[in-house]
Amino acid sequence: MGAAATFNRDIKIAPSILSADFANFGAECRAIEEQGCDWVHVDVMDGHFVPNITFGPQTCKAIRPHVKTVMDVHLMIAPVDAYIDAFAEAGADILTAHVEAGPHLDRTLQAIRSAGCRVGVALNPATPADAVAHVLDRIDLVCVMTVNPGFGGQSFIHAMVDKVVRLRGMIGDRPIHIEIDGGVTPETAPLVSAAGADVLVAGSAVFKGGSVENQSVYGDNIRAIRNAAQSAQGGAQSAA
Ligand code: DX5
Ligand code: ZN
Repeated sequence: MGAAATFNRDIKIAPSILSADFANFGAECRAIEEQGCDWVHVDVMDGHFVPNITFGPQTCKAIRPHVKTVMDVHLMIAPVDAYIDAFAEAGADILTAHVEAGPHLDRTLQAIRSAGCRVGVALNPATPADAVAHVLDRIDLVCVMTVNPGFGGQSFIHAMVDKVVRLRGMIGDRPIHIEIDGGVTPETAPLVSAAGADVLVAGSAVFKGGSVENQSVYGDNIRAIRNAAQSAQGGAQSAA
């Protein structure tokens, strides 16, 4: 399973099931994996940390048998610590908590590691890259929100590209993924891959126009994002 995967900076496409058919998560997860996605991104929202509610650990547990790749669980909840074990037991491979979710980020990240998951930390658009400077040796992934979290289908915030460049420099040789979440399309993907990102979450840009019955569209959409990202990968770094 993905938890033991070898680290690399190849472009990975992680469709967000926030844009899938909520009455058919199992089939939707099988369809996007059949169509070539790398990870499955699961957006958990609590109606408190973000102004929207999705689902909790029971739904993640129900989805788990349908995900053969990596179940990448993005927790947009506060408080978060009390729920980490439940999401780990539900089968999350990666658990990502927000810097802004509580006062004790280091404790939260230790709890995720202790629960047996890979450790992610997410930054809202207004939170600077420096917020993770002192936890870099605790994490496997940093998620740069390129929209204000809560809803799919929002526009990419271009000022976040500079944050990705800064994080890439801070990370150096550490085996830490840079994940982009929000407004990723074939047009915006090259901007962030050139800046150093390797994991691209995409909800509307993967699911638009397709369905479980017409799933080749998902494949077309995934390929379009991947090709655009790959063609620009590392561009900003080699230019720097
Ligand atoms: C936003 C979520 C994202 C989002 C991505 O709060 O974390 O995963 O749904 O959706 P798109 O790709 O449609 O911006
Ligand atoms: Zn997300």
